Amino acid sequence: MSADQGKRMAAEAAMEYVEENTVIGVGTGSTVNLFIDALADMKARIDGTISSSEASTARLRKHGIPVLDLNEVGTLPLYVDGADESTRFLQLIKGGGGALTREKIVAAASERFICVADESKLVDVLGGFPLPVEVIPMARSYVARELVKLGGRPELRSGFTTDNGNIILDVHGLKIMEPIKLEQQINNIPGVVTNGLFALRPADLLLLGSADGVRKLT
Ligand code: A5P
Repeated sequence: MSADQGKRMAAEAAMEYVEENTVIGVGTGSTVNLFIDALADMKARIDGTISSSEASTARLRKHGIPVLDLNEVGTLPLYVDGADESTRFLQLIKGGGGALTREKIVAAASERFICVADESKLVDVLGGFPLPVEVIPMARSYVARELVKLGGRPELRSGFTTDNGNIILDVHGLKIMEPIKLEQQINNIPGVVTNGLFALRPADLLLLGSADGVRKLT
């Protein structure tokens, strides 16, 4: 079974958790794109969406799905997003698409976070996927030096600017044994907007598309 098939299975399975007359938080990435396409079928029965990126906003609007302002909406009942890596404890690395900061905001503002992914994303230890860190441009060199002290090899994501006008440092070579501690340590470096570890606020449910069907991990 291909990764694309796994992504589609997981994205479609998430539709079961979408309730009518609610606002849905929508993540970013190729798996979420499939979720957005499925969501279009019930656009008349939801109250709208909160988007985590300009890319997802464009896709939602193309389908005629309303995109609302998070400041105008209270707590969201549901957020659906993908991941670059997940442990069995649903701690994640995200931000491969560079949307980590808005994703972290929408996840934090949501009661339930359902992560959708193909089974290749499940790992024992986080860090095989380079950890994205969003950084204010003037702090690039300073933050990079601090990330080296934490044991990583930061690389500037070349030619990329986030939706918030910042840069991304992708940190290679980390074997993340204490995800909550590292998430806090990196976020405490001046100039860091946030990093792609979702450990303080992990997913609540992981839907993994696999050859055996959709596995549900809580
Ligand atoms: C976007 O910034 C990311 O956090 C994505 O959620 C993550 O990269 C997963 O993307 P795919 O669904 O494309 O694998």
